[in-house]
Amino acid sequence: MNTKPGRNVVVVGTQWGDEGKGKLVDWLTESAQAVVRFQGGHNAGHTLVINGVKTALHLIPSGIMRAGVKCYIGNGVVLSVAKLLEEMAGLEKAGVELRSRLRISEACPLILPFHAALDVAREAAREKGGSEKIGTTGRGIGPAYEDKIGRRALRVQDLKHPERFAAKLRDLLDLHNHVLTTYLGSAAFDFGPHLAPYMQDGRVLFQPVFDEAMRHAAILQPMVADVSRELNEAHLRGDNILFEGAQGTLLDVDHGTYPFVTSSNCVAGNAAAGAGVGPGLLHYVLGITKAYCTRVGSGPFPTELEWEKPGTPGYHMSTVGFEKGVTTGRSRRCGWFDAALLKRSAQVNGLSGMCITKLDVLDGLSELKLCTGYRLDGALVDILPMGADDIAACEPVYETMPGWSDSTVGVTEYDRLPLAARQYLERIAQITGVPIHMVSTSPDRDHTILMRNPFLAG
Ligand code: GDP
Ligand code: IMO
Ligand code: MG
Repeated sequence: MNTKPGRNVVVVGTQWGDEGKGKLVDWLTESAQAVVRFQGGHNAGHTLVINGVKTALHLIPSGIMRAGVKCYIGNGVVLSVAKLLEEMAGLEKAGVELRSRLRISEACPLILPFHAALDVAREAAREKGGSEKIGTTGRGIGPAYEDKIGRRALRVQDLKHPERFAAKLRDLLDLHNHVLTTYLGSAAFDFGPHLAPYMQDGRVLFQPVFDEAMRHAAILQPMVADVSRELNEAHLRGDNILFEGAQGTLLDVDHGTYPFVTSSNCVAGNAAAGAGVGPGLLHYVLGITKAYCTRVGSGPFPTELEWEKPGTPGYHMSTVGFEKGVTTGRSRRCGWFDAALLKRSAQVNGLSGMCITKLDVLDGLSELKLCTGYRLDGALVDILPMGADDIAACEPVYETMPGWSDSTVGVTEYDRLPLAARQYLERIAQITGVPIHMVSTSPDRDHTILMRNPFLAG
């Protein structure tokens, strides 16, 4: 029996999300026995392409398409059981066996319909009041994390006790219906068809929320587990564990473009707290980094390009890269690679190495620009400042590099990349100080160049 503990890898997005984390997590499961999500919720959208077949995941870890790999939803995730069951049903319809492999922490706070109602109503109120919307996914993520931090959340473990659940739910509804009706003016608001069954006159009703939660509880129960304990035991048994981040570093609630961020810590350090393991178990941190930048929703983006005008580099990125959100279908804003932003990401995550994704999308651009720093208040800065106001005031400083015309689609050996592509990658590594250990050259699982395997120590 193997008694050597396993080696664990944390995968995080280093920009504003949608860097290709799902593809890489799925690919890396060749060397892992378990994958755990540690933050976020169904605001995430991770796309896997295996033998030409596409799978979109929101809550279920990206290890689910590899038979035998255990998939954990850690305590740091805010869980909509309704969305989880919907996603499970879709995968089961496609023939994926998952019930024996999916484990859910009893400490996950629940996302319930009033969280989505608050999210949507708040965005509408911001807009009406003249403030810029955050551009949230409308999934209730922020309000659910507020309940958690406010120590009043209903958690997965509360589903076991219907009477206690009912009492806590009534208290929560008292609070949130007060905010919805009195502060947000929800009676005048159309919440759309998916919230309609739970609402009347702008208030969220107790009975449909309670009845649904109890129905879901029975289905969920066999998968509810002490995830922290199982992960620690698996590690000691010698299993390699992948910690799958959602969103990206610049959406992190502390380190991102605050307030245009999500409501959780997306950085690598949170993998320990959000899964229930000690930080010493995080052996290698892999930063997934797009070869250019994209962002969905509002908020500053220093290297943003005009991306709707045909013939421009931004339009090229948007169309060749199919830059549309998996969760909300919104177009992603596009811009040049920002190495000064990456420096911030490298620092707050402690990146061991990077995987550069979507390199193929840059094929055919005659020249590329790399942002190396910014002009801010008359001074030159070489790292992204903190918070939206300073970031919005940054004027990027660029270095220009030659592009390449040969196709890199599907290349799996570094030496086969065009010289200009290698020079671009090497310059990125040089400015950011982070080695590039992988390169992704198409959405397909196997179109990946491996220079250093993160599961091998040293
Ligand atoms: P995630 O949220 O970080 O998992 O990323 P998404 O799945 O939301 O977005 C990344 C998109 O790019 C998906 O449609 C992937 O299939 C696709 N993708 C990932 N890697 C590559 C790549 O190397 N080249 C191309 N062309 N597409 C890629
Ligand atoms: P993955 O895991 C890209 C963005 C939203 C919005 C902000 C706050 O696929 O990379 P929220 O609903 O979380 O309160 O919205 O965060 N956002 C994402 N952008 N990829 C994601 O996830 C995102 N999850 C949230 O667009 O700007
Ligand atoms: Mg995504």
